[in-house]
Amino acid sequence: MHTIEYQFSDKKVPVHFDAVFNEIYQLTAGAKLIILTDDQVFGLHAEKFSGYPVISFVAGEANKQQATVNNIIDELIKHEADRNTFLIAVGGGVVTDIGGYVAAIYMRGIRLALVPTSILAMVDATIGGKNGIDVGLLKNLVGTFRQPDFILYDYSFLSTLPFDQWVNGFAEIIKHACVRDAKLFAFLEQHNLHEFQNDHHLISELIEKNVNIKSSVVAADVYEKGERKILNFGHTIGHAIENTYHLSHGQAVSIGMVAACNLSEQIGELHFEEARRVVSLLAKYHLSVDIETDHEQVFEILKMDKKRSADTIDFILLSEIGRATIQSVPLDTLQKHIKEIM
Ligand SMILES: NC(=O)c1ccc[n+]([C@@H]2O[C@H](COP(=O)([O-])OP(=O)(O)OC[C@H]3O[C@@H](n4cnc5c(N)ncnc54)[C@H](O)[C@@H]3O)[C@@H](O)[C@H]2O)c1
Repeated sequence: MHTIEYQFSDKKVPVHFDAVFNEIYQLTAGAKLIILTDDQVFGLHAEKFSGYPVISFVAGEANKQQATVNNIIDELIKHEADRNTFLIAVGGGVVTDIGGYVAAIYMRGIRLALVPTSILAMVDATIGGKNGIDVGLLKNLVGTFRQPDFILYDYSFLSTLPFDQWVNGFAEIIKHACVRDAKLFAFLEQHNLHEFQNDHHLISELIEKNVNIKSSVVAADVYEKGERKILNFGHTIGHAIENTYHLSHGQAVSIGMVAACNLSEQIGELHFEEARRVVSLLAKYHLSVDIETDHEQVFEILKMDKKRSADTIDFILLSEIGRATIQSVPLDTLQKHIKEIM
């Protein structure tokens, strides 16, 4: 295990890389621990949790709702959780988002450790202090900004992660490289998913590079007023097509990144050769790079985006690989280009 402390406004968060789940005991110095996880992770890794009280809920985004929070709170009361309890949220982004939210509101705040078990949770969801739940279909409508007390990475959880979840997580990894780190982009070009799945040192190096990127972007803008928005690269169009075309988040964001690269070429400075490299890298990591869409329908959904203001919409564009800019794009310009960028 090795530890790096990341500073987010007024809170320092220790991140323990390459750790073993058991080390949680020493790290919480004998406090009362309660594990929160989902039934899928629990079913596959029950032996890691033996001896601890476990609260488990049914896996999946559909359960990231207030009803699940209510059940968890009932369970915490049954387990006599108090202000000295440490909640340990072990799972993908759904578990860490719900865990963060419950820990923020139960008794007005109890201590929290996050143990991400999916690639997406490792490189994205656990970093930055955002937590919350969906309300019906409205994603992440309710929640708080609150940093965990620490984050622990045990890569042995990844041995059971399904292939499509690896691919899903790599969409965010490629996004980080595109907006912030040309060297990471080249590193991804040199390797492939199979190597990352089978080489402990390689995946641990990759996760750490991504935690560094996300942390540095978040630290500069904890409450998402400016710089943090670059992490939305590919997400504007991604969100517009994710539900309508029944795509996984990663596949939708991948198509969104291709569209954003096309737009960056047409109205920005991105060289076509750089755009081509982004498309090849996404395809190399099994991500979709095109889709048949109804352009008018996509434009109608884009108009409803929360990043829209009056006649423009904020887009994250690339000026080159590793450098993103936030640009207000007039809606009529977008409408003109939508056919070519999708
Ligand atoms: N807070 C943030 O800043 C932030 C950022 C990005 C995403 N998110 C949230 O993260 C969620 C998506 O995260 P996710 O993709 O991890 O989804 P998820 O938690 O639903 O996990 C995906 C699936 O993989 C399973 N799984 C997780 N780890 C496993 C393992 N080691 N072995 C076997 N199966 C495993 C889960 O049980 C689930 O079925 C969304 O709700 C999203 O809003 C939050």
